[in-house]
Amino acid sequence: MRRRLEQGAGDCVQTETLTNVDSLKTQRIFTQEPKKDQTKILNGFKNSSSANGYVMTSSDEETTKRKRNGLQNGYHIATEKTKEPKTRQIRESFEPPRLVTSALTKISFYILMLLGYLSQALFPPKIVKEKNREGYMPLFDRFSAFYSRYVYRRVRDCWNYPICSVPGHEVVLKDRITRDNGWTFEFTGTKTKCLNLASYNYLGFAEATGPCAEAAISAIYKHGISTGSPRRQHGTCDLHDELEKLTAEFLGVEDAITFGMGFATNALNIPTFLSPGCLVLSDEKNHASLIVGIKLPGATVKVFKHNNVSHLEKLLKEAVYHGQPGETHKPWKKIVIFVEGVYSMEGTVCRLPEIIALKKKYKAYLYLDEAHSVGAMGKRGRGVVDYFDCDPRDIDILMGTFTKSFGAAGGYIAGSKEFITFLRRHSYASRHAWAMSPPVAAQIISVLNILMGRDGTDEGQKRIERLARNTRYFRMRLEQMGVIIHGNEDSPVVPILVYLYSKIAAMVRTLIKEKIATVGVGYPATPLTQGRIRICLSAGHTKEQLDYALEVIEKVADEIGLKYSRKARDLAPIVYDEIKIYQDA
Ligand SMILES: Cc1ncc(COP(=O)(O)O)c(C=O)c1O
Repeated sequence: MRRRLEQGAGDCVQTETLTNVDSLKTQRIFTQEPKKDQTKILNGFKNSSSANGYVMTSSDEETTKRKRNGLQNGYHIATEKTKEPKTRQIRESFEPPRLVTSALTKISFYILMLLGYLSQALFPPKIVKEKNREGYMPLFDRFSAFYSRYVYRRVRDCWNYPICSVPGHEVVLKDRITRDNGWTFEFTGTKTKCLNLASYNYLGFAEATGPCAEAAISAIYKHGISTGSPRRQHGTCDLHDELEKLTAEFLGVEDAITFGMGFATNALNIPTFLSPGCLVLSDEKNHASLIVGIKLPGATVKVFKHNNVSHLEKLLKEAVYHGQPGETHKPWKKIVIFVEGVYSMEGTVCRLPEIIALKKKYKAYLYLDEAHSVGAMGKRGRGVVDYFDCDPRDIDILMGTFTKSFGAAGGYIAGSKEFITFLRRHSYASRHAWAMSPPVAAQIISVLNILMGRDGTDEGQKRIERLARNTRYFRMRLEQMGVIIHGNEDSPVVPILVYLYSKIAAMVRTLIKEKIATVGVGYPATPLTQGRIRICLSAGHTKEQLDYALEVIEKVADEIGLKYSRKARDLAPIVYDEIKIYQDA
């Protein structure tokens, strides 16, 4: 056993200084000092029969047989020089609520539930009930049905707003009313144009005019809307090839493969390289698409506390030490860590350099989902890898979507040539799912060219910087206001904690009246006591628009009591143009 642990120990030195400024705001400073020449294990186990820190046994023969299949339990060895990441301070804020706020939130929620149960008893829903199904499992979960009818229905008007414009820095909502307390809605025939703080349009490329829209339109004239086939059949056109080359180049890796849907990129590719006998270590806040993909292949899953590197290390140690459950303690076929770049509900940024150090130390693999960080983070918009100045080749599987920063649709997986070739052959998504629509591919190519400055302008760089400045400005002003916000100072996802369910609804409704669209998030998407309004910033927002939103938010915060923060506030005026961005990188 001890030998296993020793074998698991890699050659990366990691030091961490945790400077806890106060209990309300935690600043973490960490330094990575990996050795310059590192043996990088690609696509599986080390050649010497030591894998994830253990010795391969004859029971791993199946594993060895499949070694040619890229990550499918095979192993390849390569010696590469990897880049030393620079030191970066992570400033993340997690001010906890007062005890009384938590208690009131819980009490108000239980009152809501009690009212729900009473009204269900007094006014049973006029809906179809399952009949003649003796011996069958019920089709519907009773609690979810109750919750959506008697709790969520009361505030249903705050969600699922139909829109009738491009979701740019402004968005047009279709007005609707309910005459039966949220059971049904009718359109009024009017529309409301709102400042859009709700859509994931980080770089403002969700546009109906301009070079990207024109590229998409030209692609329709040349290729039509659909490829009429999955990629592995007759569904690959020149745009797909061009997109994949550009994506790999943009991310600084050997190769990339793209898919028509971001969710499916996770759900349909993860099962190609996991199987029973593999161990997944997954961040507790990971997105549903990752969870679906991880559950499908029947691998063992252990969840670590959100962004908690010590907990991750504890699980890694245990995994290497104990191996698989059972008497033989057979070693895991492989251990894969799953994290996201920016977490879309928390606004947090994964502690990538530390996670890379751990994955090297314990010879595990790393799957990084950059859905919310590609384009939105880093000096050159290349995601958290760029933000921390890490080497992209240190991440075994780089995943991302084209929905958020690219104003398009679809997803990619990028990494070594060998692994991407393996996916091209084996991915369910490339074999069985329709290829990305050509105009969508054209939009993304156009955005990538702009971000890389290949359009002959500095528009891409300007957008990246505007988003970074907007983000810091908005977050700093909210902190001055005294509301509690969560997450990283550079994360364009800004959750404002409102705690009570009723306050989520009050805030969303008031903001819409003031012509500002936001998203409310509550239980079960968040823990019971952590209801919030989520704001997504964009490079498309002007300072004037942000100031208007801040003015309205402050007014609502005073009206409904949202200034929960007890932190000392720096009230010095903030000059937008003088805000420093990327100074730590
Ligand atoms: C982390 C993460 N991964 C994957 C997806 C799925 O991507 P898409 O919405 O592009 O299908 C999302 C969606 O928001 C996400 O947040």
